[in-house]
Amino acid sequence: MSMINLPLDLITLLRTAKHVAVMTGAGISAESGIPTFREAQTGLWARYDPQELATPQAFVKNPRLVWEWYAWRRELVSAAQPNAGHLALVEMAQYVPHFTLITQNVDGLHQLAGSTDVIELHGNLHRTKCFREETVIDEWVDTGEVPPRCPRCGDRLRPDVVWFGEALPRAALQAASDAAMTCEVFFSIGTSALVEPAASLARMAMHHGAKVIEINPVATPLTSMATYALQAPAGRVLPELVRAVWL
Ligand code: APR
Repeated sequence: MSMINLPLDLITLLRTAKHVAVMTGAGISAESGIPTFREAQTGLWARYDPQELATPQAFVKNPRLVWEWYAWRRELVSAAQPNAGHLALVEMAQYVPHFTLITQNVDGLHQLAGSTDVIELHGNLHRTKCFREETVIDEWVDTGEVPPRCPRCGDRLRPDVVWFGEALPRAALQAASDAAMTCEVFFSIGTSALVEPAASLARMAMHHGAKVIEINPVATPLTSMATYALQAPAGRVLPELVRAVWL
């Protein structure tokens, strides 16, 4: 497999950078066998209607359908392992003085790979919370009811993920924005750069003087603005980049 063309000034930039921020999307987990959202035919939203499954209204209308869909996704994710892209980011964090990892993914694969302090913008599939109180619930009595009930207030439990039309967790969004505004290098990896407010972080970083590096096999609305666009799979680019810059 041919080596990816990594511009020398990109390598120098990363060698001298003090603060690097990385934001990932579904594409970084694609090589772990987890479908992305918007890829034609294979993407989840090509097969399922997000309005029917990933909104609070959908949950009120049919809580069992939504709960079981997320249970199916949790099974998919639980069978997956981090790939070379996830692992390379764990390595990169060791070489960069100040490293911030932001993800839109709810699969927990960064943490499984060994990344710490991951900023989860859209929640996590492995967590459950009360639909009414929004508190994370670790244990509940399994009465066979689907979805199960909150042991505190009796309302239904739901996955701790951000649904369409819902606000992002305030602290996570603040931490991600702070990193975008103070980093010297901002990576946008495996995201279609379509869903707000996450899609604005790269532009925010650019606006504050950071160099933006996009890693995605296909062009996105960010590609023409990015300082560097590496159009190849993250699982190939990231290990090569870490090797070329720090090893
Ligand atoms: N390496 C890098 N990028 C990849 C790879 C790969 N191996 N495979 C696919 N991609 C790219 C695709 O080209 C696409 O541009 O990953 C992107 C995935 O885009 P989406 O499916 O739109 O996922 P994402 O950007 O993470 O979606 C954002 O939307 O559906 C909601 O809440 C959900 O967090 C999600 C948000």
